[in-house]
Amino acid sequence: MSEGLFNLDLEDSRTRHARLVKEIRRHDAAYYTHDAPEISDAEYDTLRKELEELEAAHPNLITPDSPTQTVGAAPSSGFKKVRHAVPMLSLSNVFSEEEVEGFLDKIRRFLGLPENEPIEIVAEPKIDGLSCSLRYEHGKLVQAATRGDGAEGEDITANVKTIPDVPHTLKPGAPDVLEVRGEIYMDRKKFMNWNAEQAAITKKPFANPRNAAAGSVRQLDATKTAGRPLHFFGYALGEVSEKFATSQEEIRKKLAQWGIPETPYKLCKKTAEIMAFHEKILQQRADLNYEIDGVVYKVNRLDWQERLGFVSRSPRWATAHKFPAEQAVTKLNAIDIQVGRTGALTPVARLEPITVGGVVVSNATLHNEDEIKRKDIRIGDYVVIQRAGDVIPQVVKVLTEKRETGSKEYTYPDHCPICKSLAIREEGEAVRRCTGGLICEAQAVERLKHFVSRLAFDIEGLGSKIIEQFWEEELIRSPADIFTLEERNQKSLTPIRAKEGWGDLSEKNLFAAINSRRTIPLNRFIYALGIRQIGEATAKKLASVYGTLENLRTAMIAAQEENSEARADLLAIEDIGPSVADDLIGFFAEDHNLEQLRRLQSLLTIEPYEAPKGGDSAVAGKTVVFTGTLTKLTRAEAKAGAERLGAKVAGSVSKKTDYVIAGEDAGSKLKKAQELGVTILTEDEWLALVGAA
Ligand code: IVH
Repeated sequence: MSEGLFNLDLEDSRTRHARLVKEIRRHDAAYYTHDAPEISDAEYDTLRKELEELEAAHPNLITPDSPTQTVGAAPSSGFKKVRHAVPMLSLSNVFSEEEVEGFLDKIRRFLGLPENEPIEIVAEPKIDGLSCSLRYEHGKLVQAATRGDGAEGEDITANVKTIPDVPHTLKPGAPDVLEVRGEIYMDRKKFMNWNAEQAAITKKPFANPRNAAAGSVRQLDATKTAGRPLHFFGYALGEVSEKFATSQEEIRKKLAQWGIPETPYKLCKKTAEIMAFHEKILQQRADLNYEIDGVVYKVNRLDWQERLGFVSRSPRWATAHKFPAEQAVTKLNAIDIQVGRTGALTPVARLEPITVGGVVVSNATLHNEDEIKRKDIRIGDYVVIQRAGDVIPQVVKVLTEKRETGSKEYTYPDHCPICKSLAIREEGEAVRRCTGGLICEAQAVERLKHFVSRLAFDIEGLGSKIIEQFWEEELIRSPADIFTLEERNQKSLTPIRAKEGWGDLSEKNLFAAINSRRTIPLNRFIYALGIRQIGEATAKKLASVYGTLENLRTAMIAAQEENSEARADLLAIEDIGPSVADDLIGFFAEDHNLEQLRRLQSLLTIEPYEAPKGGDSAVAGKTVVFTGTLTKLTRAEAKAGAERLGAKVAGSVSKKTDYVIAGEDAGSKLKKAQELGVTILTEDEWLALVGAA
């Protein structure tokens, strides 16, 4: 107990209690909300301890909102979370006329259109700002939210209401519910002056108008947002209570009528027109009052947009044609070789730091061995580097005229720089891989970092540095160790809270973060395993097809057999080819992986996959097989549609098949379905069943 406690009479205790509560709250806010703690963990712990002891001595002082009663409260970000009724997506990219053609061809193939069928495209500038969703109900602005991770963003209504461009009330005629998606940006010219003034006060200028806009809307105090030169452009819809348009162009016109600011645009019928508009906007770029980083192309017909749907996080009906990247010249000081979680050696250029397009760049990717050879990149060279959007900066070429005499060609290592095992390149592969496998610490550490990363287990507070430290100290050597850490720590003579830089609070927060992830959706779990070539989208696909970890494991073990049904089913999944299948099957063929899975299963709750939409559709959870030639849908469209509604599309017919959809000239699969007594549907019957006839 702290000294002096017994000497306090009740009145003093009450005053002291109130002061402590206030103090601790203030430090909580500084720590959680502003990421700017003012005192050390140890000092904070002392304050809390005093409060606890005071309350233990005078239980009548305890109030429900005392910090002692709200332990383990989720770190508040200061903004309320908002679930988006319709996810906020990103866009795929194209960089050349050829890729624009490719984008259009893919659309034609998906929709089953003839080769040269014109597709009307709305082309408009791609604003480099901060995406935002405005929700209007009965014409009134009721909510504004950031994109966040696409599924959930933050409520920034109060801040957005200070932007003069954003109408608080729409002009008459808008549907009852109307979500307008668009971009908040900062006036480019005003940014310069404003940023200079700002820098004089805070000493922290923003790198570019985009960051300034993002910083402005994330002000906790909306009066600070007001007065900043912010604007808004609307470009797409979220949830709407009724259809009010048949084309993208009509959406734009209606939004403008109701009072939403719209960018210039052009309705294009030919690739030449698209390219001309891209060129025109590129020429205007420097004079525009907003930053742009490309042009967005959108299929004009909304019935086509609907049929095209989405792949992973982007619509098939839109793409961004990015502008050429910004470049700069700098010196390449060194080439480091990094070892990834799958053993791939990746060369990284360490550069003399330089500003490119408003961002300081000190590293660039060199891709692989051949890339270094092809460009003859040497240590000490002056190189042209470029960065485009969010992509990692790249080395474009070497300025050989600036090369010093006597410089040597770079020799790529043939051993792992970490575990010293042989690093080999399989035939036809671009990457060289460390053969150390389980003994390679670099791979193990990278696998752990991947396991806790944002799209996997997303364990806050277990960042790269801490993973490396805990690996060194042998506290965490495998994913399952993360979930036994707390128990081991309790018995440890050198607990985490006693380590340098740690305290009671940070230790408690770490375990709270770990424990909050003991329940995890199957798709995240599969992604977290870090199996080669299994990215987020493929993990989701696998989760939706197999439903549970048990099913996946059983199927992958059965699929080791060359001609098995399990293997055919795996290969029938969209985007899973033989090479991905091999990596997946290979993972489940290793005993140590199965052992790790068993350990994780005993420590975690892995939630079976839940279909996001269409869960109540007639075909959700059913296994279907398409065979023969379909006439109203292309095969890709049929498959994507069935999967969207929660069905599993298999490649072969078995007892487990629920429906076989037989098009024209169906052959052996139809015969097998008849033999097994599986329900057979015509294309029209299928369309009627899924409600699309
Ligand atoms: S359409 C489903 N149009 O770019 C349609 N997006 O890189 C999705 N963006 O997340 C977006 N200008 O924040 C669209 N004219 C425009 C845009 C635009 C900027 C942003 C948007 C999107 C990001 C994707």
